[in-house]
Amino acid sequence: MEFLGDLLHHHHAGEDALLWPKLLARVPTQLAPVVELMQRQHEQIDATLTRVQKALPEWAARAAASTRNALASDVAQLNAALAEHLDGEERQVLPLAATCLDPDE
Ligand SMILES: [Fe+2]
Repeated sequence: MEFLGDLLHHHHAGEDALLWPKLLARVPTQLAPVVELMQRQHEQIDATLTRVQKALPEWAARAAASTRNALASDVAQLNAALAEHLDGEERQVLPLAATCLDPDE
């Protein structure tokens, strides 16, 4: 889970820094909400991921039921948010990126 969290964090940081600003500057106005939705989803995913990463060490050390239940709830929430986000990226953002970015970008 720790590796996945780090990977996800770096992936999203790259999109936040390199993808969303370029798309927002280049997509037609009516498509800006798609990009803005992706940005908001990143913020929600990051908040949930931060909770999971903070809870993991305590759960690993003590495995208390209360810690387990909260962690399981956050992991389930993270999974659902990621499924929605990644589906949106594939269906809506990749076609935009293909038309708004050049291959070097
Ligand atoms: Fe993303």
